[in-house]
Amino acid sequence: MPYKTRGLFEFMRNQPTQLDIPTTDLTGRVVIVTGSNSGVGLEAARQLAQMSPDRLILAVRRPNAGREAATSIAASSNVRVKPEVWTLDMASFASVRAFAARCDQELARLDIFVANAGMSSPTYKQTGDGIEAITQVNTLSTTLLACLIAPILARTATLPALAKSPSFKPHLTIVTSYVHYLVADLPGLNDGTVFQYANNPKNFNGIGSTYRTSKLILMLNIPAIAAKAGPSVLVTAVDPGHVATNITRELKGVMVFVVGVLNKMYARSPEDGAKPLVWASVAPLPSSGLYSSSCKITKPSEMVMSDKDGSKNTAVWREMQVIWKEKAGIDVPL
Ligand SMILES: NC(=O)c1ccc[n+]([C@@H]2O[C@H](COP(=O)([O-])OP(=O)(O)OC[C@H]3O[C@@H](n4cnc5c(N)ncnc54)[C@H](OP(=O)(O)O)[C@@H]3O)[C@@H](O)[C@H]2O)c1
Repeated sequence: MPYKTRGLFEFMRNQPTQLDIPTTDLTGRVVIVTGSNSGVGLEAARQLAQMSPDRLILAVRRPNAGREAATSIAASSNVRVKPEVWTLDMASFASVRAFAARCDQELARLDIFVANAGMSSPTYKQTGDGIEAITQVNTLSTTLLACLIAPILARTATLPALAKSPSFKPHLTIVTSYVHYLVADLPGLNDGTVFQYANNPKNFNGIGSTYRTSKLILMLNIPAIAAKAGPSVLVTAVDPGHVATNITRELKGVMVFVVGVLNKMYARSPEDGAKPLVWASVAPLPSSGLYSSSCKITKPSEMVMSDKDGSKNTAVWREMQVIWKEKAGIDVPL
């Protein structure tokens, strides 16, 4: 089947809204959700808040929006935790680094980290670090943050078991997307220019190949992140499905109409779109490094599956390592 048809097929198959999530008692635990002032991140934070964690940290780039989200979550039924708002701008490596350092210094434990923040835009923009914004936010910063947070989760696994849900393992949930199925090739993979290609405005297709590729590379990175986190942490890539959220807010003209029709036909509500994130964050999954969609483990795209020897991931990691070293001052070897 051609990859586009297969991608469309996966997309339609993955859209049921009847999703069940297990209820877990998170008493005594600490939860962080990034990008939790809007969309599936906000609703995932709300659903996790209803499982009684001791601390819930909303990691957002706009503190005012974070405070509004915190008020809204605190006012929800069955919520006792008072959400905290911490600043994190994924378009800045300095912010990612400072946020991870704050987690390391201030948290005695961290049980669930949901790396949800992500973006799409029809307009080419560069971050202050000089990188195309979608690529930095969705791929480079998300992977870097996951690598910096993983040791904190692993450290939590060494603490004495809590009275409630004693066998619960720390979870690192990384929000990817079904759109990674739609990527047929990765330009620059063979000559180490994947990120140079992505940074070139001539190659930019924000809601198309640029966004899809940002999620594909994130998918390729999952086994390496799981290896870094170690066996005591459950790392899972999650597709929320097609969800009607603010991610399309910058669209204009005919695309507003197209997305509006698609949303009416297929989209999950943010509440339903959050369930796969929550499921992956609390379920006792059989192993780490898996991909999930619609609250079940499923197969990623053929390009991801075919990277059994990790050669594609090694190639992109080499490039990322240079960028992180140069722009963030951090060496993150494979
Ligand atoms: N909606 C879908 O159909 C769909 C499908 C597959 C995957 N996803 C993924 O799901 C995740 C959540 O998206 P959503 O649909 O819920 O969209 P959304 O409503 O736009 O939420 C995105 C969240 O990410 C935050 N964010 C964006 N750029 C950031 C930055 N530089 N630093 C920190 N936070 C930043 C946003 O903050 P601001 O409010 O400040 O912008 C917002 O809180 C994303 O990773 C997205 O790629 C969505």
